Amino acid sequence: MILYDAQNRTYTIHTQNTTYQMKVWDYQVLLHAYYGPRVEGADLSYLLRCKDRGFSPNPNEAGGDRTFSLDTFPQEYSTFGVGDYRLPSIELESSNGSHTVDLRYVSGEVRKGKYGLEGLPAFYGGGDAWETLSIILRDAAAQIEVELLYGVLEEYDLITRAVRVKNAGRETVRLLRCASLCLDFIHSGLDMITFNGAHVAERRPCRVPLHPGIQGVDSTRGTSSHQHNPFVILCGQNAEEDYGLCYGAMLLYSGNFQALAEADQFQNSRLVMGLNPYQFPWTLEPGTSFTSPEAALVCSPSGFGQMSRQFHKAIRKNLIRDPYAGRRKPVLINNWEATEMNFTADKLVEFAQEASGLGMELFVMDDGWFGVRNDDNAGLGDWTVNEEKLPGGLKALVERIKALGMVFGLWIEPEMVNEDSDLYRAHPDWILNVPGRRPSRSRNQLVLDFSRQDVRDNIYEQIKKVLASADISYVKWDMNRSLTEVWSAALPAGRQGEVYHRYVLGIYEFAERLSQDFPGLLLEGCSGGGGRFDGGMLYYTPQIWCSDNTDAADRLRIQYGTSFCYPVSTMGAHVSAVPNGVTKRVIPMDTRGVVAMHGTFGYKMDLRACTPEEKETVRRQTAQFKEHCMLIQEGDYYRLSDPFQNGPYTAWEHVSANRREALVSVVTGTFRGAPPFLALPLKGLDPALHYRVNGEGDWPGAVLMQTGWPLPVPDGDYQSFQLYLEAE
Ligand code: DGJ
Repeated sequence: MILYDAQNRTYTIHTQNTTYQMKVWDYQVLLHAYYGPRVEGADLSYLLRCKDRGFSPNPNEAGGDRTFSLDTFPQEYSTFGVGDYRLPSIELESSNGSHTVDLRYVSGEVRKGKYGLEGLPAFYGGGDAWETLSIILRDAAAQIEVELLYGVLEEYDLITRAVRVKNAGRETVRLLRCASLCLDFIHSGLDMITFNGAHVAERRPCRVPLHPGIQGVDSTRGTSSHQHNPFVILCGQNAEEDYGLCYGAMLLYSGNFQALAEADQFQNSRLVMGLNPYQFPWTLEPGTSFTSPEAALVCSPSGFGQMSRQFHKAIRKNLIRDPYAGRRKPVLINNWEATEMNFTADKLVEFAQEASGLGMELFVMDDGWFGVRNDDNAGLGDWTVNEEKLPGGLKALVERIKALGMVFGLWIEPEMVNEDSDLYRAHPDWILNVPGRRPSRSRNQLVLDFSRQDVRDNIYEQIKKVLASADISYVKWDMNRSLTEVWSAALPAGRQGEVYHRYVLGIYEFAERLSQDFPGLLLEGCSGGGGRFDGGMLYYTPQIWCSDNTDAADRLRIQYGTSFCYPVSTMGAHVSAVPNGVTKRVIPMDTRGVVAMHGTFGYKMDLRACTPEEKETVRRQTAQFKEHCMLIQEGDYYRLSDPFQNGPYTAWEHVSANRREALVSVVTGTFRGAPPFLALPLKGLDPALHYRVNGEGDWPGAVLMQTGWPLPVPDGDYQSFQLYLEAE
């Protein structure tokens, strides 16, 4: 619910459990008054104090009033160069060279429904579930108009934010920064949690107290990156899984981003999140606008678990566009870890035959099916089927796979090109590269200039032809390097700063075309695993390969970190062969299966090489996943332990919306002598209901949650247990 109180000049947003308020203060300055647990009926600006502080300037209109300063008040959208020395949200270069931006409130409007952002991913939804608040601010001297957009999804405590900047003057201006959200707190004592890592080690949580000055994470790689995820949490220092106040902020963006927090001189705090100003300058001609990516906030007054569950529901129901919504997705087998690029149609069919016999339903042919692609030195850019490997083309192969009762999926990497390709030989100027420089290679490939329509069109037409040539149900969209030498032949020198963002807009346009032209197609995002695991891509690809590291022990940590924002249904997770290719670890097949069920579930191995016992395990796991799939993918998710604590086990739980069903999964760590007898307290059950556990007994929910369930005592490394609970 969004309320405007004309007398107090406050805008108040209520969600189910939280309240957000801003106030139009003196001189039309828009201040941020409050964001936290739900409170009713108050003008919360009584919390804001006026005080004369040394070296804190006063706006000219304040005359002799030395107690009003932008430097000391919490701002709704911080400005630049006019007295607020903390993190700016916006900065521009006017035609006279000035960078200052001084925004004053003009008007506000509340409307039903959710605003949309052209060309950008955004939460969506119809009916009465959403409301939009649009606030117009203006800088009269710089002649720009800023629209602050808020989308409110009450049930999930979700508040989305986006910003439109319009050049309302007659001169061209250059926008140097334009954050999607600014969030001020009139206190410090907050911790910041970021999710960091590397290729094969994504999204490790790092929690640090805010210290005076600026801290945060960003990406300058052109993608959201393996290194830092565009999702952060600010929380009370006492906040934990089921207790305490926390704020999650996600950015729906797949390129260079920045999420910075600042603790200031008066122990106020500020979070600013949005596009990275690094190489950003965007030219705004008179009359044109720029729209920021969308950010989304969830505040939870009761710990991280509740925050995550609210994000999960909102992402599942109002962000991803899943052709399988409400239905079980087919269980997948992918050939990559078994064959890499060394395969023939016959070999793939043999694979598929084995997999189909064990219950798998979707066969995915990974990298190596096109051009002259026998290793990673050649072929990218030439999206025509390699008939030496696949005689009769894709159609022939797909028909053979379908005859096995399976559907078919394909790997693509549209943004890339190898120098050894027909495309590059014909269009060497289609890559991102600075004139006079030789482009850096990474995995032996170069990056196509996806900021250009002609380049995108060429690749799109090639891929469309392939997809239309056979019955294809799934596409894995990969992206295997970071950007370098970012310069586009299609833009003049003064606009080269726009290339990074235009590249991302190009990706989004390409993805949107795919979804429009092939509406039933299931898209899986991938960037060397989880290098582009963000809310932006999720709008187009309802699942994303979580990491190239499929070692079950490492995956426990990667999936745990990912779960703080993103739902289990979005995490690509497969069982692979042992010793694991990345860690060389050997983990039992049972446990690998349990860990892959914390995700989309599938296999990435040569099942023909399995022993009869292993095959039986695969058959059982696949059947089990199919049985519990909807509970896993759509249930409420509870973290029962933190794998980074190196405790005796890692555990998690999925609970159905009506709380009548739950699936608990437990994986032990490395075996230590004399293991203790442990009981695992469960979460999210109905205390008044009685549950059968694995088909037996009659256990009150209250007891299971308070005293727990006794865990089997492990007798080796990395063992796993699952409990299925069903209310009587
Ligand atoms: C990186 C992906 O993450 C892998 O799963 C595989 O698709 C390779 N690329 C193929 O090149």
